[in-house]
Amino acid sequence: MAPQLAHALPQTWQAPSESAIRDELEAGLMAPQAAVSPKYLYDALGSKLFEAICELPEYYPTRTEAGIFETHAASIAATVGQGVTLIDLGAGNCAKAARLFPLLQPRQYVPVDISADFLHDAVANLRQKFPDIAIDAIAQDFSSTLNLPATVSRERRLFFYPGSSLGNFDPDQALQFLRRMRQALQLGEAGGVLLGLDLVKPSAVLDAAYDDALGVTAAFNLNLLNHVNRLLGADFNARHWQHLGFYNVAGQRVEMHLEARHDVLVRWDGGHRMFRQGERIHTENSHKFSPEGIVDLLQRAGFGDCRMWFDPQRWFAVCHARAR
Ligand code: AVI
Repeated sequence: MAPQLAHALPQTWQAPSESAIRDELEAGLMAPQAAVSPKYLYDALGSKLFEAICELPEYYPTRTEAGIFETHAASIAATVGQGVTLIDLGAGNCAKAARLFPLLQPRQYVPVDISADFLHDAVANLRQKFPDIAIDAIAQDFSSTLNLPATVSRERRLFFYPGSSLGNFDPDQALQFLRRMRQALQLGEAGGVLLGLDLVKPSAVLDAAYDDALGVTAAFNLNLLNHVNRLLGADFNARHWQHLGFYNVAGQRVEMHLEARHDVLVRWDGGHRMFRQGERIHTENSHKFSPEGIVDLLQRAGFGDCRMWFDPQRWFAVCHARAR
């Protein structure tokens, strides 16, 4: 997402300079296996396309996770407890966390998102609806550092990271990210994490979820090229590329790529690359988890007392773990 940080939200993070973004994109495009970070999927249109993906019949994670929260509401609330400091990572429009408010009755709600624009409107609405909850939004790219300002209570912090967004990190990055959360929880404090994680399942289900019949996921992926054009001054033509989204069984992850339909010369300010027909740009990994793998990952990150709730097909898990 192109960060627009004009609003009066605390910023504990310096937006990367335009030249740093260009350097990162250029390095990715020039690499032998070209790659662009999945964060560039989320410009304004990309964020809307992702919302549309969540409505698709093939894309089960969003509604499956919502179903787990609905079915197991009482048990989740009893495990997590009430009056937490709810820190919502990648909060977006804050809708998922807001649904938990009646259940968890947080003392403080801290939505964190790279896009201040998204947060600004959502927070204004929530403040009206829930005047008793202290709401302190933070504009930050939390994927590389997690700097919570002093306004965030240290009491009973609960990091909320739903939607299997953890799966978009590579396993080592996911571990480091969880360790950063663990460090932000005081020793001996009743702090923890509440995660939504997508589970390993038959390839056909995953292939369809990431390559839907309407082509919305294809549009989401191809739109990254338009975003790169704006950021890098490039001349990608989305018509010259096709979307690939498939499950890699050995890697236990869905991969998204953009594949050149024919030889394509792409130019940008200060560089160019010839992509041969069939050459790919890797745009996203979406790792899938096993319940045992989740417990192991959390333990290695310094969490224990792990509790999980599943949907009837065991396609998705909601997981709570405490800092130990
Ligand atoms: C945001 N993230 C968890 C989604 C996923 O399933 O990995 C992004 C996505 N990519 C294609 N469809 C959805």
